[in-house]
Amino acid sequence: MNLPLVGAAVDRADGRVKVTGAARYTADVALPNAAYAVMVTSEIARGRIASVDAVRARSLQGVLAVLSYENAPRVRAEGNDNAFALSLLQDDRVRYDREPVAVVVGESLERAHHAASLVRIAYEAQAPVTSIETSTDRYAPEEIFGHPASVTRGDPEAALSAAAIQVRRVYSTPVEHHNPMEPHATIASWDGDRLTVYDATQGITNVRKRLAAIFEIPVENVRVISSFLGGGFGGKGGVWSHVALAAMAARVVGRTVKLVLTRPQMFGSVGYRPRTIQAIALGADRDGRLSAIAHDVLSQTSVFDEFVESSGLVTKMLYAAPNVRTTHTLARVNAATPTYMRAPGEASGTFALESAMDELAYAAGIDSIELRLRNYAQTDPDDGKEFSSKHLRECYALGAEKIGWSERDVRPRSMRNGRLLLGMGMATATYPANRVSASAVVRMEADGSVVVRSGTQDLGTGSYTVYAQLAATILELPLERVRMELGDTDLPPAPLSAGSWTAASVGSAVYEAASALRDRLRKGEKAPLEARADAKAAWGGRYSTHAFGAQFARVEVDPDLGEVRVRAMIGAFAAGRILNRKTARSQYLGGMVFGIGMALHEETRFDASTGRIVNANLAGYLVPVNADVGSMEAYIVEEEDAHVNPIGVKGVGELGATGSAAAIATAVFHATGVRVRDLPITPEKLLQP
Ligand code: MOS
Repeated sequence: MNLPLVGAAVDRADGRVKVTGAARYTADVALPNAAYAVMVTSEIARGRIASVDAVRARSLQGVLAVLSYENAPRVRAEGNDNAFALSLLQDDRVRYDREPVAVVVGESLERAHHAASLVRIAYEAQAPVTSIETSTDRYAPEEIFGHPASVTRGDPEAALSAAAIQVRRVYSTPVEHHNPMEPHATIASWDGDRLTVYDATQGITNVRKRLAAIFEIPVENVRVISSFLGGGFGGKGGVWSHVALAAMAARVVGRTVKLVLTRPQMFGSVGYRPRTIQAIALGADRDGRLSAIAHDVLSQTSVFDEFVESSGLVTKMLYAAPNVRTTHTLARVNAATPTYMRAPGEASGTFALESAMDELAYAAGIDSIELRLRNYAQTDPDDGKEFSSKHLRECYALGAEKIGWSERDVRPRSMRNGRLLLGMGMATATYPANRVSASAVVRMEADGSVVVRSGTQDLGTGSYTVYAQLAATILELPLERVRMELGDTDLPPAPLSAGSWTAASVGSAVYEAASALRDRLRKGEKAPLEARADAKAAWGGRYSTHAFGAQFARVEVDPDLGEVRVRAMIGAFAAGRILNRKTARSQYLGGMVFGIGMALHEETRFDASTGRIVNANLAGYLVPVNADVGSMEAYIVEEEDAHVNPIGVKGVGELGATGSAAAIATAVFHATGVRVRDLPITPEKLLQP
């Protein structure tokens, strides 16, 4: 398959509207006669609502409704396998900090906010369980995304005991919140039993299904529209309480209702990466060849639902060790239900595993890259399958060359730049290449122009661009003649934009539809003409399908202040066919920046006695800014994959966010000789004697 236009670094189709402010994000959508809803959220992490006093709020002019558990319509808030349980004002229980407890609707946003500030809620507080260390409610989940949650191959404990070199370490990662620039936002309008919703979501199809279930109306009665997203990072993958609350409020007041979360509410009912404590044990011979790996993950979930941070999944398949154990245990705490965040599992898991590999490299006296090559998995060690393609060696080599790895003096604290300590570190990146079912229609108009239609959404990653590129290539048309329509459930259904599977899934559908259209045109059929494809999910075929990469970091650390500066990061990635080198590079760089945040900045802090979040804002919750980033480049390692799917695409969304924190953490160790195993690496941890 020769697809010359595909892969070209063409500009985003939506670039101009985004930089000029013309793109309408959900909260920008102005509908006639809209009212404004504001959530009131709990001020305790566990207990009951004793009373709701909304007299003053209701008496304000321009206040249309105050909903609480006392008067909210009854709806179906419980969760199921595919949907999180929600907080929809159905009872007086409070289960986490910032849980929605009331919704105020007003004629204006200001009026609604003011009225919300006047709602007085009295609580009967109970002592919350605030950490996984103190939680006694622990259990082993059965599965994670269809994978068994715990796996053992061989006899890891015996192999560990017998190993010449043993590394046993505990790594931990904090609660992290997604913090996209765009807050969650929903606009809901009812017309009889029909509901139209504008939503900032990674999955319009799921929002549609979930709202239909909550309000017990047919799925066809719900239309969901999402034209642009200002970041999601997994946080907009779930359907959260505010979406249904906006629809509930709209039904009560008989008006269109717009509900936008405040920044502090972005730390409430909309998910986060759970805290993890990860025990890793590596057993190796004197040459660094692994005989055993054990990775036991403890993470938190809420008291009312389940989410597993799948940090151990990567450990099953990354290195060729004969004896392996990975386990996952959950501890219930009084916090909201966690969710997918920026390579859930793989980001936190590679931090632990790749940090431990660095510790093994030092213990064995072997270069970090050489250690990885000695344990290189030629076939998937977990299921024995051949990889559909794997160019990880090439990634190591290219990344090492670009960062200047050969200049590295391996001894900790041996390299300096003036008075600053200099360090270099590296880690492996990997993310599974999955494909889920997706549909697309490609239509040629009488004038020869083409429109591609699929109910996917623009996560900010290039969805308007790459599918048009793909169709233009197949139909041999200039790109200007092809337009993408997405973000509306009236279009053919497409999956959640998550799991790095969108390009593979929607791309396969567009490829099939465009190819069918081309064949019909070649047979002499005339436009207007359209072809539809319903591409099937493909999990677990004959091959093991994963994308790989290598991450490198160069840091400088102030020895007196403990301040870490990431001077350079290099990523080299092999992820099959790249649809657009420009948008792919952007995604890789974004993932690498997430690694800086994970390694050095991001941490949601909870008050240990109240369970309340104390830094629920962008002043207290730090994310990397431009000055934190330094120089950064992502290199694409060419890779053809004839097996993964018809277009050979593995997906790039999350790959860059894996291994990046470990590369920085190992660079910090190299610079300072201090091994910080508890993220984030803050100055005070480095300065501890
Ligand atoms: Mo991604 S964290 O699967 O949206």
